[in-house]
Order: sequence, then structure tokens, then C-alpha cells
Amino acid sequence: MITRPLNLFEYESLAPKHLSQMALDYFASGAWDEVTLADNRAAFNRYKLHPRVLVDVSQRELGTTLLGQPIPTPILVAPMAFQCLANSEGELATARAAADVGAGMVLSTLSTKSLEDVAIASNLANQSCLWFQLYIHRDRGLTRALVERAEAAGFQALCLTVDAPLLGRRERDQRREFALPSGMELANLVTLSDLKIAHASGESGLFAYVAQQFDPSLTWQDVEWLQSLTHLPVVVKGILRGDDAVRAVEYGAKAVIVSNHGGRQLDGAIASIDALSDIVTSVGDQVDVLMDGGVRRGTDILKALALGAKAVLVGRPVLWGLAVIGEQGARHVLDLLKNELDVAMALSGCPSIPAIDASLVKPIN
Ligand code: FNR
Ligand code: LAC
Repeated sequence: MITRPLNLFEYESLAPKHLSQMALDYFASGAWDEVTLADNRAAFNRYKLHPRVLVDVSQRELGTTLLGQPIPTPILVAPMAFQCLANSEGELATARAAADVGAGMVLSTLSTKSLEDVAIASNLANQSCLWFQLYIHRDRGLTRALVERAEAAGFQALCLTVDAPLLGRRERDQRREFALPSGMELANLVTLSDLKIAHASGESGLFAYVAQQFDPSLTWQDVEWLQSLTHLPVVVKGILRGDDAVRAVEYGAKAVIVSNHGGRQLDGAIASIDALSDIVTSVGDQVDVLMDGGVRRGTDILKALALGAKAVLVGRPVLWGLAVIGEQGARHVLDLLKNELDVAMALSGCPSIPAIDASLVKPIN
């Protein structure tokens, strides 16, 4: 019996008791056979750390910069839809937790609290890094309105997710006919449209929503279009190839996120940590490169930074924390990661983030 979780995996094992089966399946699942989902974790073990010794690590500094701005830790909460399924405070709790710990947050287009309310919660808690994740709907007027609102509310970047022209097939959601419970809504869209994640027979309601509403015709020109709508930097999320990263930069992206969407889109896709090096080699001297997928330990963050990431995003563990004890749980999850990173830096001879260099990690053959 776990009374106080010591690590993220213990939160994961406690979460099911606090979630409906539908929410649990939605959060946990990956696409098809969940091979990429598992590989995101397994891949971290294929990299070994080569620690340095006898470095003075009595003072350690986890601060770094992202998009030219200082941030207290290289950790952000990944954009995740429908956080009220985990806790009634949903994205508001996440925003406060992230701000308290000095982690950044990326808010999903499909949030269950409005972007304005999240910005207020986050600013009140002194958030230093708050981005808005954008899904481009077929209705470009709706997208334009979201961009204007995010800018007005004080979000500092737009994170365009490009790996979801359709939703990946998550068979657990299909079997459960995933839909949002009554009373839970697409809080950013209610004032703009009557769009809903409704019940669909024999189908995930979210799959049906994405098929009807997201624009599957997006191309690189739309990155330029988005850039023309806003003064905010555009970050492209969902890149797994060096040539796509080069394109993202050519078309104006100020950062790229190496991601396979937590194994929820194309099953069989390369693990994020395995895709990172090529992308850093291709564009790492021009823009910030971030990664997400399977980050569960401070040593995972250390490996990602050693392979050239500027920061990492953490997804599901924050939802486990939220589900188990609300805002406090989300905060604890982020704090655990931060403390583990701090210890891992001390044990590898890195008193600061810039000291984490490529020589610290090697893939095993
Ligand atoms: C996501 N992800 C996601 N990504 C995005 O760009 N917009 C979104 O709305 C969502 N929604 C979402 C919901 C849930 C329940 C999960 C688990 C994930 C993907 C997310 O941002 C991130 O890429 C992965 O979750 C990272 O992997 P880990 O940390 O969950 O392994
Ligand atoms: C998901 C979407 C909403 O992964 O991004 O469920």
C-alpha cells in the first residue's frame, strides 16, 4: 500500500482508483498495438550516462532559457485535452501547480477550462512560461479567434500540433465509445461554436470530432499563415525527422518539439528520444529543440538535455498526480522530477544546465 508516492510510477499505479474507466483508458492509451507508447520508455534505457566526477556541485542551478526567456527549470507540462476528467479544477489546478514549481505549461485547444481563466490562474501563481497549443480547425475563423484570444490573454507562444490530421486509432477509446460526460465542455470553443465531443456509436467521439473538425489539408504554408496572424512565436509540435525540422524553421518556427504525441498517433513511429539527435543536428543551432514522450525520471531529462534538447515536456504523469490528489498531486509530480534532475546533475558532475553536454550520454549498440 503506497501512502505517499515516491516517484511518478507510483502515481500511475494509484491513479486508476480515482478515475472512471473511460478517463483512465483515454489518458493511458496509445494507438493500435501501443508499440510506440512502450518504446518511448524503453528507448531511454538504450542510452547510458557517462558521469563526470570531482566537479564542485555544491551549488546547482536548474534555470535555463527558452525562446530567449529565462525559465526556472527545463520542464513543461505537455498540452493535454480534457483535464477535468482527472479533477474538477482541471487545467486551473495544473496551471497553479506548474507555476509553483517553476515548470512551464502548454494549454491544449481542447481544454475543459477556458484559456482566459487558465491565464489568470497561471499569472496569479506567477507563471513564467505559458504557451497555447493550437489545433487548426477547418473553420479558419474559429482558429483566428483562438489565436487572438490567446495573444490577448498573455500566452507567450503558440504551439502548433502537426501530427494529428486525423486522430490516431486508440482502440480502448473506440471500445468505450469515448465522449465527454455531460457538464464538461470544450471551454475555449463554447463561445465560438456549439462543437461537442459527443457520443458516436461504435466509435471514439473524439476520433469523430477530429475527423469532422480538424483541417487535414494543412501544409507548411499554413505555418506561414499562422505566423501572419500573430506576433507570438510559433512552436511546431510533432516533428520526428530532421528534414521536417529544417522546413519548420524555413517556414518561421521559433522552436520545434520532437514528439510522437505520447504514442497516440502513428503506432510504429520512432521513439522521441531516438529521433532527437538528428533533429538537433539539423536545426539545433538555429532554434530551440524540445522533446516529449516517456519522460518519467530526472535521468530521462538529463539524457534528453545531453542529446541537445533545451527542455522536455511531461504528459500523463501530471494527469496521474491530478487524479490522485488534485493540484497538490500535479505539483508533487513536477517537484519529484525537478528534484530527481537536481540529484542526477549532482551525480554526473553538472552544476548547471549548460554543463550538460553531449559527452554525458551515449547510445548502446
Ligand atoms: C495528449 N497530447 C496532446 N497533444 C497536443 O498537442 N494537444 C492535445 O490536446 C493533446 N492531448 C493529449 C491528451 C492526453 C490524455 C495525452 C496523454 C496526451 C500529447 C501530449 O502533448 C504529449 O505529446 C505526450 O503526452 C507526451 O508523452 P507522455 O509524457 O504522456 O509519455
Ligand atoms: C489526444 C489529442 C486530443 O491525444 O491530442 O487525445
